[in-house]
Amino acid sequence: MPKLMPIKDAESSTGKSVQIRGWIHRKREGGGIIFIVVRDRTGTIQASVKKAQVTQKEWEAASAAAIESSILLSGTIKKEPRSPTGYELEASAVRIINNSEPFPITEYQSAELLLDNRHLWLRSQRMRDIMKARSYVFRYLRKFLDGKGFYEITPPLLTKAGGETGADLFEVDYFGQKAYLTESSQFYSEAMAFSLEKVYSFAPSYRAEKSRTIKHLAEYWHLEPEMIYYNNEMNMKLQEKLVSNTANMLAKNNEDLLKNFGVDPQNLIAIKPPFKRITYEKALEILNDKGASKKWGDDLGVEDERLLTEEEEKPVFVTLWPREIKPFYMPVNPKDERTVLCADLQAPKGQGEIIGGSERIWKMEELKERIAEVENLKQIKITLDNYQWWLDLRRYGSVPHAGFGLGVERIIKWMLNLDHIRDAIPFPRTINRAYP
Ligand code: 4AD
Ligand code: MG
Repeated sequence: MPKLMPIKDAESSTGKSVQIRGWIHRKREGGGIIFIVVRDRTGTIQASVKKAQVTQKEWEAASAAAIESSILLSGTIKKEPRSPTGYELEASAVRIINNSEPFPITEYQSAELLLDNRHLWLRSQRMRDIMKARSYVFRYLRKFLDGKGFYEITPPLLTKAGGETGADLFEVDYFGQKAYLTESSQFYSEAMAFSLEKVYSFAPSYRAEKSRTIKHLAEYWHLEPEMIYYNNEMNMKLQEKLVSNTANMLAKNNEDLLKNFGVDPQNLIAIKPPFKRITYEKALEILNDKGASKKWGDDLGVEDERLLTEEEEKPVFVTLWPREIKPFYMPVNPKDERTVLCADLQAPKGQGEIIGGSERIWKMEELKERIAEVENLKQIKITLDNYQWWLDLRRYGSVPHAGFGLGVERIIKWMLNLDHIRDAIPFPRTINRAYP
């Protein structure tokens, strides 16, 4: 049996007898030859099947095979200037593994049809490239943290309580009781940090936000590191290194892939610490200078984030937000009591928020005060019944700690310069879609 050749290796396999396997990308027949463009995960190559060189049965099967049929071919690789890639497989044997039914995706298709057929569209060159980049981003993020002595931990996804806004939870019938799909694993990361000191969870988070934006998914992948004895500054330093390392690794190892998205790898190589830090207060000034009318206590929306970062080349931290708009676990800033000790990281060129992080209140009394304050400010009731275990962390050997949450699809959207976050995940869940 000749050796199985990844299609990208055609050049180095010239003259050799090989086997290739993949799917039929294109096909045309004429004058006793069938030209089949075969695709595997590494690329495409043209194969020529000559009637005189294969069995009658093989010829008929190849002739009948439709686009997207799975196929196995043996033959010799030769240089062929007329082939789209410059190389060709001269087939000596053909096997159609599964003759495809008529493929629902043809050349020009609406975005909706492609989303309905996402399971098939994932075979396209564009989606293949994105999914490769996604896999690399996951790898680089993990590798960096593992190299810094972190333990990866696995949080539950079904929980009794929210933690972030609480307003955007998907409710689940849990054996007759109410439970929710987690919107952040932070509280579990905190519990694990009091055991393993530096940890990260890497899991989906769920947000039942009714936001129809190019940056919101109902299910996204959330990387949530948590570190004991870290303060806000140390937290930001770690984020800078994590994000720049990921950008640099992606650029260095995937130049060709990035070019398919029109991304200049140099722009990602240039992402190096330190990142600019501006306070929330300063961010309001910048926005108002650009014509917005923002006042203290306003949150930043998609359009504000775009305005704020459109001229930036590197990510920017927006630090020290008003205590009334951030969650109850964030400590008040002793140097400016209007604010809490937190920072959001905003990606450059208008992309906006990719990370939210903060110090955590670690003393019980302070936490109780802050919870009462947030209840008062936001006119909400924070039911502590379901947080007792998390409050316990402040009862038994508590220590200062900090952490952050990074939205992986936001990172991918930014680094590949995608129009919409839904393309950064294989099977997007958005407000109007949970199929396929
Ligand atoms: O800012 P968020 O809501 O912060 C938290 O959940 C903290 N508990 C994280 C922590 O400190 N451990 O979410 C963190 C990040 C955002 O910066 C964003 O990148 C991403 O999660 N994110 C989303 N990504 C896609 N779709 C959504 N609907 C998202 N909501 C948040
Ligand atoms: Mg946030």
